[in-house]
Amino acid sequence: MKFFVDTADVAEIRSLAETGLVDGVTTNPSLIAKSGRKIAEVIAEICSITPGPVSAEVTATEFEPMLAEGRYLRGIAANVAVKVPLTEAGLRTCRALSDEGTQVNVTLCFSAAQALLAAKAGATFISPFVGRLDDIATDGMRLIADIVQIYRNYPNLKTEVLVASIRHPIHLVESAKLGAHVATLPPAVIRQLLKHPLTDSGLAAFLADWRKTGQSIL
Ligand code: E4P
Repeated sequence: MKFFVDTADVAEIRSLAETGLVDGVTTNPSLIAKSGRKIAEVIAEICSITPGPVSAEVTATEFEPMLAEGRYLRGIAANVAVKVPLTEAGLRTCRALSDEGTQVNVTLCFSAAQALLAAKAGATFISPFVGRLDDIATDGMRLIADIVQIYRNYPNLKTEVLVASIRHPIHLVESAKLGAHVATLPPAVIRQLLKHPLTDSGLAAFLADWRKTGQSIL
């Protein structure tokens, strides 16, 4: 399973990339706004940190301007994946960019039917938002199960399921159990994955016993 980081905070991406756990990055207009930086500048910097796909989202809503924005964004670096919304214009743009050899991430997916359309439009990634579904008392993980099952039924569909809007480690573990290809994780959730109180107390006990021996390994 690939781990993407869901942020436009370059310092966070740099620090997490050093762990070797980062396979790519996703951004969206809200995350770019939070960074306070120009989109082209911040995407170029992120692309220089990770060789994996870096999603940069269009903001036009009509086909022609959306396609123009997508072509501009993919020109920033070879590893840009253009992110388009799951609308009619977004799917047309997806098909056009995909036919040109550009990676496309279709975002704001909230139904299995939408995910099937994105795959037919040649999406590299489909981004179902589990947290936002949970927020409205709808089971986000059920959607991941449905999409994974549907894509498996049609091996000619090459779209990868990129679980988005992850809010906690259980979303990640359930996604992995279902066989989703990618999870995009806020930096805080990646750090939560590491933590277990038994790891901390076990390590403290080992080190206390080790100190009593008076030895050092080097
Ligand atoms: C990633 O591609 C999405 O934009 C992101 O995961 C949305 O997460 P949120 O629902 O926490 O804003």
